[in-house]
Amino acid sequence: MKIIVVGTGFVGLPHAAVLSEAGHEVYAYDIDPKKIAAYQSGEAAQIERYVNEPGLAAAIAETKDHYLFFTSDISSQCEDADVFFMCINTPPNRDGSTDLTYYLKAAHDIAGFLAQRKNQNRVVLVNKSTVPVGTARLLERIMHEHDVQNFGVASNPEFLAQGNAIDGSRRPDRVVVGADTEEDYKILRRVYSQFVNHVRIKYVETTPETAEAIKYMGNTLLLTYISFWNGVGARVAESLPNVRMEDLKIGVTADTRISTWGSYVSNGAGGSCFGKDIQSLIYQLNQAGCSTDLLQAVYNINEYQKTYLIDRAIHEANFNFNQKTVAILGLAFKKRTNDMRDSAALKAVESLLSKGVKSIRAYDPLAMEAAQQHWFNPNKNYLFERISYHDTVQEALEGSDAVYISTDWEEFRGLSRTIEKAVEPPYLVIDGRRMIPDYQSLVDKGYQYLAVGGALLEPEMETAVLSANGLVPEPEKQA
Ligand code: UGA
Repeated sequence: MKIIVVGTGFVGLPHAAVLSEAGHEVYAYDIDPKKIAAYQSGEAAQIERYVNEPGLAAAIAETKDHYLFFTSDISSQCEDADVFFMCINTPPNRDGSTDLTYYLKAAHDIAGFLAQRKNQNRVVLVNKSTVPVGTARLLERIMHEHDVQNFGVASNPEFLAQGNAIDGSRRPDRVVVGADTEEDYKILRRVYSQFVNHVRIKYVETTPETAEAIKYMGNTLLLTYISFWNGVGARVAESLPNVRMEDLKIGVTADTRISTWGSYVSNGAGGSCFGKDIQSLIYQLNQAGCSTDLLQAVYNINEYQKTYLIDRAIHEANFNFNQKTVAILGLAFKKRTNDMRDSAALKAVESLLSKGVKSIRAYDPLAMEAAQQHWFNPNKNYLFERISYHDTVQEALEGSDAVYISTDWEEFRGLSRTIEKAVEPPYLVIDGRRMIPDYQSLVDKGYQYLAVGGALLEPEMETAVLSANGLVPEPEKQA
């Protein structure tokens, strides 16, 4: 099939690469010629400046100029295209609704080109980015406005998690296709022929509106589950006596009906999707006159989680942040990405600055450039000048009074030795990801340790008290 992928960001580029692997002729289009030049170069470093995904550059190299082509002009490719995948970014508006400006511009442009076709073969326009329920219908109206002939619209939402886009596209859990006619289902079955009737991949055919809703339901349910662990599980282990977080997790998720994914307590879930999608669903349901109490609570719990450890440090550890230096380890919203969108670190840094810290020493293995772009803007907030950027964990820790671990990078696991070398007690370790399983060695040496899902551990506390708080490993486990 001849396929045009419109928009080559995180959604479009891996999708285009994997479709071309399946033998389709794919034209990946983007309005930004710089992106197109970077992809066309085929160089990993250039491609990763825009989309940093394991295996992506290699996948592009496999099919580029054979089945995969990059272009910033699709007008000439519209004549005989079979399918368009709309992979345009849809950022949130302030009120939580979805900003469709870029999407609508692209839709009108494409409609204009399709209206000029001499060839009248069936063409299907598929929404792949997350868009509000009813957007496929809107796309249909736009095509009619331009008098496009013989077309269908469909929704085929993207379910990929960042860091897993290529593997996830090659082996998805499910493919959801929402369309209106058998003719259009058939065209999409040809696009996804390797997944139809696959033993492990669910191929779901439904209406465009149901497909759109499946995406919102999926993401809000995942965030609800994470928020259950953060808002209930972590609180149980922090506040009730003798409850151990790790054991709690293992015991509860041993039930085959309950997922281990999402049970990892944290300083809040970030990224470009969860926050945006739950707000959009709240907006859509409110517009339809429905109450959204549960979704609102989930959203609030997740936002609260992003700064609550700083409040706990003040109230439980009596730590006064005023004029202190704090190291922050991890800026990306999760490991293996340089993406800081809606990252918990953004909120933590703002909270620390509002509490009067003298300086913040930041380190992240991948997101330093993104961080400097985000904070190094003199017009934004002069307080951001208090942030300095460092090349290693050790360097970020030097001269600090406390450290805040915000992202679950592997290199932060078991950091006690590095902390002991870099800084002396009194010193507060705030662990937003439970990355230091050997926290006891820190506490024994005089450091305070405060983690999500655990009570504050202080050096002078007796082991019996620590144990009562559920935060000391059993003696036999220590051995
Ligand atoms: C998420 C969904 O997982 C994808 O299914 C969806 O397609 C995607 O959004 C999207 O709409 O495009 P992603 O944003 O890449 O994917 O990230 P996740 O791996 O889901 O993690 C989101 C956040 O939750 C991260 O900050 C992560 O650290 C946090 N998290 C995850 C937890 O705090 N606890 C957990 O147990 C799991």
